[in-house]
Amino acid sequence: MQGYSRKVIDHFRNPRNVGEIKEPNGIGRVGNPLCGDVMVLYLKIEKGVIVDIRFKTFGCCAAIATSSMITELVKGKTIDEALKISNQAVTDALGGLPSIKRHCSVLGEQALRAAIRDYHKKATDGIQDDERLNKMKKNKHYKNQYAAQNKKSLNKSIKNQRDSI
Ligand code: FES
Repeated sequence: MQGYSRKVIDHFRNPRNVGEIKEPNGIGRVGNPLCGDVMVLYLKIEKGVIVDIRFKTFGCCAAIATSSMITELVKGKTIDEALKISNQAVTDALGGLPSIKRHCSVLGEQALRAAIRDYHKKATDGIQDDERLNKMKKNKHYKNQYAAQNKKSLNKSIKNQRDSI
């Protein structure tokens, strides 16, 4: 563990917020092409605030320590505040990293951005689905189809009842 700060060693040995969130509304998966390490970040966002954050990282000591530290820095922040946290800020909060390990700190920032992008995408998809549904409800063709379907299922249930008597 030569060259690592005490904080890095602490976060590596006792990583905070490890694991998954049951129903996350944002997931970020990233990999480091230099070494093949992978990080998955899970977010629970409520009213624009990151109320819970968890991670799973398959990587080196620096990758695990930076993953752990970014979760501590991000938890409780708004999305806008979280997006201002750079990998340099994470490295600084850990008391620095050996220069050969600087690239490992990039995973956390990338995973966070990917998870927030995923959150926005899901939120937008939801709005689109609601809008689509509202349009369908107002559409005359849909109304008729819906009524016909109801009539069909009503007839079927009457027939089933008759058959069972
Ligand atoms: S060596 Fe792969 S992230 Fe550090």
